[in-house]
Amino acid sequence: MKILGVVGSRRKKGNTSTLMQEALKPFKMNNIETKLVFLDDYNISDCNGCEGCKETYKCVINDDMQKLYPEILESDAIILGSPAYFYNISADMKAFIDRCYCFEIFDKEDRSVWMGLNEALGGKYAAVIAVCEQEREEDMGFTAESMIKSLEALGYRVVSTVKALHLFKAGEALNDEKAMEDAKQAGEKLLKTLQLKERVRMQLSKNNL
Ligand SMILES: Cc1cc2nc3c(=O)[nH]c(=O)nc-3n(C[C@H](O)[C@H](O)[C@H](O)COP(=O)(O)O)c2cc1C
Repeated sequence: MKILGVVGSRRKKGNTSTLMQEALKPFKMNNIETKLVFLDDYNISDCNGCEGCKETYKCVINDDMQKLYPEILESDAIILGSPAYFYNISADMKAFIDRCYCFEIFDKEDRSVWMGLNEALGGKYAAVIAVCEQEREEDMGFTAESMIKSLEALGYRVVSTVKALHLFKAGEALNDEKAMEDAKQAGEKLLKTLQLKERVRMQLSKNNL
């Protein structure tokens, strides 16, 4: 089992990073492999809409996203985390998500017929962490929903969402008991979902189904 955590903030000791690491803890405690990715460490250009990926499910742009595609495909679950930047995800997170367009598959004759590659592979699970400075949920705008909708389109089922409000200074999430607890619980729920999947699979093979 492998879990991929993707941080869309450039503040490595910031709130998104702090909460992401808390969400990954339940996996580490169960000796499950995790990979923490700070998008700022990767050179990821924007999707240019060339549609060159549609036959092969591979993006033709040769940049650091090519290092992340295998990580995405190998992971059983993904956690996306982004600060609210003007009511939406950060530009780094947007570029990352857009570059996952190669995993969107459309019927050639009827583009209203489509699926995420993960659906063809049998479904995967995800969690989302959204962070903002203001106190009201509406002030984070579409940050969480933007990640949720994109993950769902890619064939992930999002089982937990953390919306951490009123966090501004880098790392002050560490002192926010509720945000830290929410992040831990999000990780735990994702872990339990994956464990349930394993149990069901074992039961199915035991029953020759
Ligand atoms: C460019 C920019 C835009 C922001 N837009 C919002 C916003 O729309 N709503 C909000 O509540 N906070 C906003 N913030 C504040 C950040 O979401 C907040 O400081 C968050 O804790 C940063 O997360 P980080 O520590 O992971 O980088 C913005 C910050 C920046 C730099």
